[in-house]
Amino acid sequence: MAEALLSTPHLLGIKQVTAEDMETIFKTADGFKDVINRPIKKVPSLRDMTVANLFFENSTRTRISFELAEKRLSADIVNFSASTSSVKKGETLLDTVNNILAMKVDMVVMRHPHPGACVYLSRHIEAKIINAGDGAHEHPTQALLDCFSLREKFGHLKGLNVAIVGDILHSRVALSNIFALKKLGANVRVCGPPTLIPTFIKSLGVEVDYNLKSTLDWADAVNMLRIQLERQEIRYFPSLREYTMLYGLDRELLESLDKKLVVLHPGPINRGVEISSEVADHEQSIILDQVENGVAVRMAVLYLLAGSN
Ligand code: CP
Repeated sequence: MAEALLSTPHLLGIKQVTAEDMETIFKTADGFKDVINRPIKKVPSLRDMTVANLFFENSTRTRISFELAEKRLSADIVNFSASTSSVKKGETLLDTVNNILAMKVDMVVMRHPHPGACVYLSRHIEAKIINAGDGAHEHPTQALLDCFSLREKFGHLKGLNVAIVGDILHSRVALSNIFALKKLGANVRVCGPPTLIPTFIKSLGVEVDYNLKSTLDWADAVNMLRIQLERQEIRYFPSLREYTMLYGLDRELLESLDKKLVVLHPGPINRGVEISSEVADHEQSIILDQVENGVAVRMAVLYLLAGSN
């Protein structure tokens, strides 16, 4: 297991971590991936720590993955869901978290609909904070597990051509992936309808392409994103049917390419919209590898942050 710690006391976003931090997380996750594939999947690393999982927004993968990672590290866990809490009675975020911390919690994993919510918390409380997704801002552990999965598949990220396709405007996964991939030396191209690609994106050093076929011809791997209808207050394209025709990845298109393009998806998948069922379950899809790697990567993040000051 890697002993080097991280340069940051919290994981608020990929913007705040270095390439060296990410390499340390990946090497540590390599060790934890071995652990979770052993008959005895538990290690005592966080035996004396209590972690609170605060989810103010829906989640399946991230919440379960963090909980499993914490259990594999032998931490004590407190789970909080906004929908069944006193937040509904008007309690502020800071009061909610301070009440939980008064019960002697060491680390907080938080998902929140407001961008910057984790940064705000980190300035007001003593516990270590891990951002599990804040609005359309960042989703750092998703980007780490995506990059870890690409590293596992290709052996490296430097010089790799990675396309991110879909609703870039509303996607925290896209922003965190762009920061991570660029820091690790990959080339990034985003693709989608012009209305779903923010103009600032080019300033992050990524290419923009509005044509799916030319994007896929260029890419070694593609990360297909969901259309985030829950974050859209206006219509950004005429219909989902038209979106699928122009930006959906189906088996015919995938198999027409002159290479074995690797397909990622952060989930949740909308089968038949951004990705067909045949592609989601295709041998070139590494979607379930991403989910498995998520546990090892989150174990690494928890372990390294627990040991840093
Ligand atoms: N990828 C992801 O964040 O999925 P959940 O919203 O289910 O956690």
